[in-house]
Amino acid sequence: MITSKDYVQQHKERFINELIDLLKIPSISADSAYKKDMFSTATLVEKSLKEAGCTKTEICETPGYPVVYGERIVDENLPTVLVYGHYDVQPADPIDLWDSPAFEPVIKKTAIHPEGAIFARGACDDKGQFYMHVKALEYMVKNEELPCNVKFMIEGEEEVGSVNLAWFIKNNKEKLANDVILISDTGMIAKDTPSITTGLRGLSYVEVEVTGPNRDLHSGLYGGAVANPINILTKMIASLHDENNHITIPGFYDKVEELSKAERAKMAEAPFSLEKYKEALAIADVYGEEGYTTNERNSIRPTLDVNGIWGGYIGEGAKTVIPSKAFAKISMRLVPNQDWEEITNLFQKHFESIAPAAVEVKVKPHHGGQGYVTPIDGIEFQAASLAYQQIFGKEPIPQRSGGSIPIVAMFEEELKSKTVLMGFGLDSDAIHSPNEHFGVWNYLKGIETIPYFYKHFTALKKQ
Ligand code: BES
Ligand code: MN
Ligand code: MN
Repeated sequence: MITSKDYVQQHKERFINELIDLLKIPSISADSAYKKDMFSTATLVEKSLKEAGCTKTEICETPGYPVVYGERIVDENLPTVLVYGHYDVQPADPIDLWDSPAFEPVIKKTAIHPEGAIFARGACDDKGQFYMHVKALEYMVKNEELPCNVKFMIEGEEEVGSVNLAWFIKNNKEKLANDVILISDTGMIAKDTPSITTGLRGLSYVEVEVTGPNRDLHSGLYGGAVANPINILTKMIASLHDENNHITIPGFYDKVEELSKAERAKMAEAPFSLEKYKEALAIADVYGEEGYTTNERNSIRPTLDVNGIWGGYIGEGAKTVIPSKAFAKISMRLVPNQDWEEITNLFQKHFESIAPAAVEVKVKPHHGGQGYVTPIDGIEFQAASLAYQQIFGKEPIPQRSGGSIPIVAMFEEELKSKTVLMGFGLDSDAIHSPNEHFGVWNYLKGIETIPYFYKHFTALKKQ
């Protein structure tokens, strides 16, 4: 019998080159200019699933971008693992800040990745991470190590809210029936500190528009007498946090799950250096809600952030103008028990209520999703934990993440199954940022570890 470690050693060059080919296609779901690339990526993903050993594959049409499906059913009586991932990526902007083009992958060494890291948009989020599962399947099939059934569902709209995936799941419950959902689309604490993500935050994303006068005005002739929508918008936004950085929207915290002292103490045991954190971001100090640590602020606490703000004149030189309109995009990260639609409504009501009569305010909800916490006493967690122990020689640390994968809560609601989040990325991999990368070491370790999840999950399920 050949181990996954040996198989990875023998085939690593090819594994890296295949991922590089996948990364070359700019599958940007947010920008319709890349529509053709989205479809060719789906085709390449399907081909890779077939080559890795799926006996049935399909490109499933949706009203948006297709879902790539694949399966290998060994025996109806054995458990089924459903792997979820996404082949779409974030836009590469701002492209000037990339050291090498976002869709021309290169391998470069970094301080954290002395073995090299693959630099490209999507390297870590999520092409590199879901492709680990494709290669893990190849290993298990070629070496007769696949102990159960496997299904793959790789979507093309995660970065734009998975709207059509929700539709797809509701209409394909039987096809997607499974015993556990396995996802690598999160991170780990450090290369020598394996961790299992046990929580994801929910999200409510809105856009606001403030309108003052019916046209842009001369700021001398009208300045001082007419409301400036940018002045008003910034004032309104500033009022959304109080002096302790608590969010001021009435009812916002009503359903927030407060962690017990013991749980917070447990969280604080995870290795973390505030100095290194600040250094990595080149900031003199951290900033956030009073009464909570940095790791609490970015995982178990809800937030409100402006993601973009615009209006008025931003061209070269100066133009004296009171603009007619000002805009902002605002995201709220939510924690378990907060309902994203309810929070969106609370935001809308509050934001409209604080607007002075001199302007008109419109709140346009974008998308959202519920948060999620995975249990740590189930066999899926245990199976993942055993897999990490086998490869890393250490027990993984449960860690709640601040990011969102809104579809995970829906999986549980519609498919009635639990999700395990086995992420292999690092926070420093710069997902969504210029120079995104994924460590070659992390990529190969993931491929090595995943087959052991299947093995332990199947064994535990039989007991
Ligand atoms: N993979 C990320 C989410 C993530 C990253 C979770 C790291 C935990 C750790 C995912 O692709 C993502 O970017 N999600 C979006 C939400 C989506 C609705 C656009 C996010 O979190 O902003
Ligand atoms: Mn992702
Ligand atoms: Mn993402």
